[in-house]
Amino acid sequence: MTPAIRRIRAEEGPSLRALRLRALADAPMAFGSTLAREEAFTEDVWRERAERGASGVDGVTFVAERDAHWLGITTGLTQDPDVPDDPRPELVGMFVRPEARGCGLGGALVDAVVGWARERSAGGLTLWVTATNTAALALYSRCGFRPTGERRPLDHSPAVASIRMVRDLL
Ligand SMILES: CC(C)(COP(=O)(O)OP(=O)(O)OC[C@H]1O[C@@H](n2cnc3c(N)ncnc32)[C@H](O)[C@@H]1OP(=O)(O)O)[C@@H](O)C(=O)NCCC(=O)NCCS
Repeated sequence: MTPAIRRIRAEEGPSLRALRLRALADAPMAFGSTLAREEAFTEDVWRERAERGASGVDGVTFVAERDAHWLGITTGLTQDPDVPDDPRPELVGMFVRPEARGCGLGGALVDAVVGWARERSAGGLTLWVTATNTAALALYSRCGFRPTGERRPLDHSPAVASIRMVRDLL
């Protein structure tokens, strides 16, 4: 059965927690947060994240699902909280389980967030990616993102740089 891309449901906080913690354990250098930090989040945090991701109002979360099993996830935020003067939405938290990679799920999840951003009449969609993350850089380039020239250190590993990318939507 082909995986489906769909919006998270408000009551799916526990599934969100499970896949997000798996992502942080599997690819610690791909994310600004850490497994130790998010393992300590209460149930309320995951419920609020799922509710926000389901609403699509101040954020949206999409999952790739096959036979009720989540294979991938990503989130769109209405704005990059670290660049408050930039009104463009941001793609964060992209993850595809290792056994499901290379089949187009990453690209399909990007497309879902692009669709949500277009519905909001956004002029572009931004993201941050670790400069050494070959697979993610290839994915985003293929999806039409280009580097903005902005760089910053990864919070938990300052020796590692993240670069900012943007895809124009107008
Ligand atoms: C990055 C990631 C989401 C890609 O997911 P995916 O489902 O494999 O992506 P797709 O199948 O849609 O692949 C899209 C493109 O990415 C590239 N790609 C995917 N895996 C790659 C790899 N291991 N090495 C190099 N390029 C790769 C290819 O160019 C591919 O294009 P193609 O289909 O024309 O060959 C996945 O590897 C992942 O979850 N990595 C760990 C978490 C992470 O790095 N998240 C990004 C945070 S910014």
